[in-house]
Amino acid sequence: MAKPRTAPATSPGEPNRDHLDDAVTDAVPGVAAPDHDDPDRPISRPEALSVWATAQRTGPVQRRGRYVPDSAAHPARMLPAIAAHAIAAYTAPGDLVLDPMCGIGTTLVEAMHAGRDAIGVEYESRWSDIADANLRHARAQGATGRAGVIRGDATSILSLVPGVLIGTVALVVTSPPYGPAVHGHVAVGDELDVRDNRYNDGADKGNLAYRDLTGLADGFAQILRGCTALLRPGGTVVVTARPWRKRGELVDLPSAVIGAGVRAGLVPTERCVALLAAVRDGQLVARPSFFQLQSVRKARAAGTPMHLIAHEDVLIFIKPGAEPTGSHEPSTSDGHGGRR
Ligand SMILES: C[S@@+](CC[C@H](N)C(=O)[O-])C[C@H]1O[C@@H](n2cnc3c(N)ncnc32)[C@H](O)[C@@H]1O
Repeated sequence: MAKPRTAPATSPGEPNRDHLDDAVTDAVPGVAAPDHDDPDRPISRPEALSVWATAQRTGPVQRRGRYVPDSAAHPARMLPAIAAHAIAAYTAPGDLVLDPMCGIGTTLVEAMHAGRDAIGVEYESRWSDIADANLRHARAQGATGRAGVIRGDATSILSLVPGVLIGTVALVVTSPPYGPAVHGHVAVGDELDVRDNRYNDGADKGNLAYRDLTGLADGFAQILRGCTALLRPGGTVVVTARPWRKRGELVDLPSAVIGAGVRAGLVPTERCVALLAAVRDGQLVARPSFFQLQSVRKARAAGTPMHLIAHEDVLIFIKPGAEPTGSHEPSTSDGHGGRR
């Protein structure tokens, strides 16, 4: 693994605020500025690695022109290159991809651009409306896949999607919501403006973001059970989970996700890492948010040697019953995790 270029820092698993990362990083001494030089240069055989080079370009650059501007309001979007890598690695054109907690529709948009069909479920109409707009935008841009979003509670996904889809899904790509404590946006203007940006007011526990870890794992297992029924035998499930700390302590979300998958009848097959840092000249260039730097610096000042989080865990399962689908190698090797 490459040696990090950034000096200090680490963070709790905070949501994507990377629309501001460039501005913040530029302002923070000791943190390398994002390197935009030749972002398309391939890394040798990225498709063969369990480390996915999914942040060769910043989130804002990946999304620019491809997603409607309102998408930036969502507190925990997936990097498009992560979804694109999973889709390229585990499906073929024409396959059906599902995201049961699709937020602003990243999985669906990337599936459409890759010529796959996709279906998403999202609990909050605020985000499903934006997902709808993103799908319309992808269609207008010539994406060839078809996709749709259903607003509803994915713990009852089998009552939401048409029954004919049972046993037809090739790939599920999703990420569970993190606790409300890590949701919020920071805006850098004349003064620092930190705004709350929760999924809802927190009272509605139908949104898994407002449950404790046990409640989140139970709800997620229920969602995965429905997804397992929708998957075809040998179909794949890819779940990303960003490391997350609560009151300074690491929350073991990946283990909870693995447990939920097993309870849902899935078989864990791989544990990968999706980079949130770029790889340049054999080194990692991290893109910490303001909050991440703050919390690392505080922890270090208090004597706790934390490190800057530069990845998301990627947990991969298959539905038993057939050979896994897809080649497990992206059909592109463009150094962006299969992103086109
Ligand atoms: C981590 S975010 C996913 C973001 C998405 N990957 C994207 O790029 O926009 C998790 C999403 O799950 C949604 N969610 C939470 N509970 C849900 C439920 N019971 N059914 C469906 N969606 C749910 C949240 O509203 C949130 O948008």
